Amino acid sequence: MAQARRAVWLRLESAFVWLLCAAPLALILWWGFTGDLTANPVEFVLRELGVWGLRFLCLTLAVTLLARYAGMPRLMRFRRRIGLWAFAYVTLHLLTYVAVAHEFDWAEIATDIAKRPYITIGMGAFALLVPLAVTSANAVRRKMTPRAWRRLHRSVYLIAAMGVVHYFLLVKADTSSPLLYGGIVAVLLAARLLPRFTRSRTA
Ligand code: HEM
Repeated sequence: MAQARRAVWLRLESAFVWLLCAAPLALILWWGFTGDLTANPVEFVLRELGVWGLRFLCLTLAVTLLARYAGMPRLMRFRRRIGLWAFAYVTLHLLTYVAVAHEFDWAEIATDIAKRPYITIGMGAFALLVPLAVTSANAVRRKMTPRAWRRLHRSVYLIAAMGVVHYFLLVKADTSSPLLYGGIVAVLLAARLLPRFTRSRTA
């Protein structure tokens, strides 16, 4: 009985996290249906998807820390899902850029990648994110050693930092928002590295 109740609870918890992750996308779609995507809908959608991609990347990093150091190991169950949602938002962000903003004009896109540093960095971050999404599948993960898998997945810190630089380079005047995300990524990285540093000093 207790086991059945626990199974139901786990399923509810899982559905709740799924709904939370899907909510920003549902909201963007809703605004699309109700014609509330501002006067510049393409830029608005592109920016919303980008900023949610960055938020979910930060959340993935925060989950690891909370699970390890704040006594919430159960959160680890959701890390892969949140990470995959980050990938989904960034992929939709890229697709909006390629298909809607540039209408598959590959020559124009190539020029943009070569000439605009924020696009170059964004593309680099996306290229690094793809292997993480692929190796999050259990079948692929089983083929890797745990050490190799952990090493590869540590690059999520670099990817989040590249997302911040991408954001910083594209804003024209007010840099407060990218700086805020930069601060969050820096704190999360420091919190992850600090225990190792103190361990090696006391050893
Ligand atoms: C990990 C990868 C990426 C992250 C985290 C990310 C994140 C962001 C963020 C936070 C913004 C600004 C949102 C705002 O102003 O509120 C943005 C804007 C933008 N991103 Fe990305 N991005 C990524 C990859 C890419 C890629 C691959 C491309 C295209 C090749 C791209 C193209 C753009 C463009 C065109 C804008 C809007 C620029 C403007 O409105 O002037 N991003 N992105």
